[in-house]
Amino acid sequence: MLLLRQRSSKFRKKSWCREIFFRRRKAIATGGGGGMFHSVEHGNLATVPRAAEIEFAELADSIGEHDRRYYRDGAPTIGDGEYDGLRRRMEFLLEKYPALRRLHVPAVGDDRMDKFTRRPHLAPMLSLNNTYCEEDLRQFIGRVEKVSGGETEFAVEPKIDGLAMAVIFRDGRFAYALTRGNGAEGDDVSANVRTIGELPMEIQLAGTVEVRGEVYVDRENFLRLNAMRAEEGLEPFASARNLAVGSLRLLDPERAAERRLRFIAYDIGCGDGQFQTHSQVLCTLRSLGFPTNDHTVCRGAEETWRAVVHLGSCRRDYPFDTDGAVVKVNGRALRLLLGAQATAPRWAMAYKFSPERAETILENITLRVGRSGVLTPVADLRPVSLGGTTIRSATLHNGDDIARKDLRIGDSVIVERAGEVIPAVVAAVHAKRPPWATPFTFPDKCPACSGSLVRIGGEVACRCLNCDCPPQIFRRIQHFASKDAMDIESLGPQRISQLMDAGMLLHFVDIFRLNRSALASQRRMGDKSADRLLGAIEGAKKRPLWRLIHGLGIPHVGAETAKILAGKWPSMEKLMDLSGEQLQLCGGIGEVVAASAVKFFSDGHSRRLIAQLAEYGLSMADGEAAPKGDVAGPFAGKIFAISGTFAAMARDAIGEAIAARGGTVRKSLSKKIDMLLVGESPGSKVAEAEKLSIPTVDEGTLMGWLGVDGSAAAGI
Ligand code: IVH
Repeated sequence: MLLLRQRSSKFRKKSWCREIFFRRRKAIATGGGGGMFHSVEHGNLATVPRAAEIEFAELADSIGEHDRRYYRDGAPTIGDGEYDGLRRRMEFLLEKYPALRRLHVPAVGDDRMDKFTRRPHLAPMLSLNNTYCEEDLRQFIGRVEKVSGGETEFAVEPKIDGLAMAVIFRDGRFAYALTRGNGAEGDDVSANVRTIGELPMEIQLAGTVEVRGEVYVDRENFLRLNAMRAEEGLEPFASARNLAVGSLRLLDPERAAERRLRFIAYDIGCGDGQFQTHSQVLCTLRSLGFPTNDHTVCRGAEETWRAVVHLGSCRRDYPFDTDGAVVKVNGRALRLLLGAQATAPRWAMAYKFSPERAETILENITLRVGRSGVLTPVADLRPVSLGGTTIRSATLHNGDDIARKDLRIGDSVIVERAGEVIPAVVAAVHAKRPPWATPFTFPDKCPACSGSLVRIGGEVACRCLNCDCPPQIFRRIQHFASKDAMDIESLGPQRISQLMDAGMLLHFVDIFRLNRSALASQRRMGDKSADRLLGAIEGAKKRPLWRLIHGLGIPHVGAETAKILAGKWPSMEKLMDLSGEQLQLCGGIGEVVAASAVKFFSDGHSRRLIAQLAEYGLSMADGEAAPKGDVAGPFAGKIFAISGTFAAMARDAIGEAIAARGGTVRKSLSKKIDMLLVGESPGSKVAEAEKLSIPTVDEGTLMGWLGVDGSAAAGI
């Protein structure tokens, strides 16, 4: 079971880290996340210095967000090293101030999503120990050979940068496919996995067979899809892995099919131990029709290391992204003898290739203004090819970071790209510094709005205090509409910029004032796109309360905290009038978060904003009848299934709207289903429903029940 993103070896070496791994594993296994800590006495939060509590709350928020981006969205925005640093700092604070465990501690390594049915794995789905260091790899081989008693056979194969999948066959037929999830249970993504053309749906093997492998998008297809997105004015996918993760998470298999997902098998479980070696497993998989990778069988450390180095030198020749080599014990009996640790087997190790580096010129340093006004310096680079893509900019974190690295505009700099995330400037090549190289000085005024800049309470970050600063507005709207908050699918960054430039968006509340004719007159925005956007906005009005709380952008209130708040007080009206003490009665909410929420909700501006959103018909409570005469009746306590696509709302939005009205949506049909919601191009469920005498409901009726005006989407 994967507990932490398997990152640097440094991180794993610490014994206290191991203990934390173990505690986390239990937290996940009991479904408790950080919650398991509440039952243990950890002391009083009042004994924790305020600065530590603030730092912890920010770390927890940011780690939670990075985990979601990595595991669930497949879109990490920081490198492994930086992520490890955040985790290490959080664990340090927890060690020093155990009372912090009373607050929300982000759970780890979980890619499950609410919108899929979950199923248990036949055997725990573990991860791999990994390292960037030759010595670690040699030590691993040494440990194995100590157990085996001599030179041992290892298989070396590429580590595919996709996502792990377990595909189950019953008596030769595809049964279902699961993501890793939390290692014990995964999301059933069978409908999307069925679209993978090269995955056999029938195999010549009886009984229950589990094939494990990696789902990925090949580089060529990644470039093709990104070119198409650019033409449509949509944000490109940051990496092939992001694209693969996002595609498997689609609720519409037809859209998933367009992504041309691929699969490479690397293991098989049949339960009867019929294979002696990993080579035999791969050979059998191939003969059953599964795509597999070539592997090299090596004896001992020298040969194995040579194979790893060779693989690294030709990593670009593979059609997929690979960030390392996996070294596995070839003999299956020896594997059994070696066994596994909590999170990874003792018979395998991934050697991660060092991040790719390149040298280029730092042409300028510009400042990017974030949602809360924090200014982040960005390096404008002379374009340079790195890891197969052209890099034009890189993150510089903050002013102190620039000073520490002594970076000057005009310097030759080394840029590094760890995995497929935003590149970073590692260092300047001081020997090559030209005489005209200019040190960077932070301006006194915000470069975007000329507002005053301050450093609050000794923070390294510099903030613009003008809340009407355009880039802040942009990022607040972007956050509000994002997948993690209100999930307004057609409102990406480019569309937001376009509508801001046209004066149609000055605040996120303006999203609900957009009208069809003004939208349709925009560039790259015909009637169809306008309808799609309006449909998505309509869907957003029915989102669960936690999404709205998160979308408001209250400092220190991330998605997890928003879920805790909405879980305890599922009504905005109630939440707005709670005191700090009342908020802290809720497990996981500390003084800092409580004070921030109280400050936000007691501010006249925030209260007016919430009132306006309510007037526009946004749901302000979970499980309530939606405003404007909506009927909760058809949904409360009822179980639905869905077939086909809907013009006015995405399927997940429909799921959420039904859940908000007390109903449930299930993936598959059974006698328990009360109604089948039928959209365009429905599948075999309609015939099945007829057989089971389950009534069907069409889109018009459904939208009527939901109080959504489907006419715009239908082009009326
Ligand atoms: S074997 C017990 N082989 O890497 C886990 N994994 O970082 C055995 N991966 O979760 C996994 N290529 O998703 C194996 N050739 C390969 C792989 C591979 C990619 C992924 C897999 C795993 C992750 C661990």
